[in-house]
Amino acid sequence: MKIIKLSLELEKNLKGLEDIILIPTMGNLHEGHISLITEAKKISNNIILSIFINPIQFNSKNDLESYPRTLDNDINLLNNTDVSILFNPSEEDIYQKNSKLSYKMPMISNELCGKSRPGHFKGVLTVIDRLFKLIKPSYAIFGKKDYQQLYLIKKFVLESNLSIKIIEAPTIRSTNNLALSSRNNLLSTKDISNAIGLYKQLQICASSVISGEKIYDAELNAKENLLKGGWEIDYFEIRRQADLKKPTCNDLKLVALGAGYFSKIRLIDNIEFCIPATN
Ligand code: PAF
Repeated sequence: MKIIKLSLELEKNLKGLEDIILIPTMGNLHEGHISLITEAKKISNNIILSIFINPIQFNSKNDLESYPRTLDNDINLLNNTDVSILFNPSEEDIYQKNSKLSYKMPMISNELCGKSRPGHFKGVLTVIDRLFKLIKPSYAIFGKKDYQQLYLIKKFVLESNLSIKIIEAPTIRSTNNLALSSRNNLLSTKDISNAIGLYKQLQICASSVISGEKIYDAELNAKENLLKGGWEIDYFEIRRQADLKKPTCNDLKLVALGAGYFSKIRLIDNIEFCIPATN
């Protein structure tokens, strides 16, 4: 695996490469990222993984500063994988010129995670746009854990007429079903066993709605249980899979999404589900 820090050097190394698949990350790699590499390998041998802690997608200095930085471990982990190039640019290099995003952010970027993290998704799309322009991948792969991020990236690619195929990878969970996230490293062992409450409530909420309970009641019940379990809730909502808008009674393909703070650490998760057409 080549480790490249400069975009100019990256461009030289990418010349002539076909079917590039990009895995954008912010490092602190775990099994979830390894699963993205496994998925990528099914598509192409030219796998570029980027590690860049993107300051403009953080809402607070504290969150940015406490984000785990583990480059040496990440490199050790990547050395045993099929990644061809690790791109680890500096902030100056990524945002050197023409880095302003000319895409009009959709309204949905201000809801769910975007409501409590103003500007977050603009920061995400800005860095993704920079990476796409530099690397010109044929494919890019993202996990479904960041459901709203994945939706907005797909929408951005579609509306910007980019010929990049976005590959969606399933959420990877630990044995107790906690969605893997770099932020889990900030939780104590005791917190980790309690943080699973979010996934449990998503499951209960989805099955209640499938069995005919009203969405509002199922959401309320989940929120009450999370509060009792020590969560500070950011949001807990059922939306449509297709556009993340609030569902009407005709919508069958839904997703339950939740975000909150457990021991001051922000965690998110989601579950897709379908209402049987006969309900
Ligand atoms: O999901 C992430 O780790 C980040 O938001 C991403 C997509 C790498 C952009 O910085």
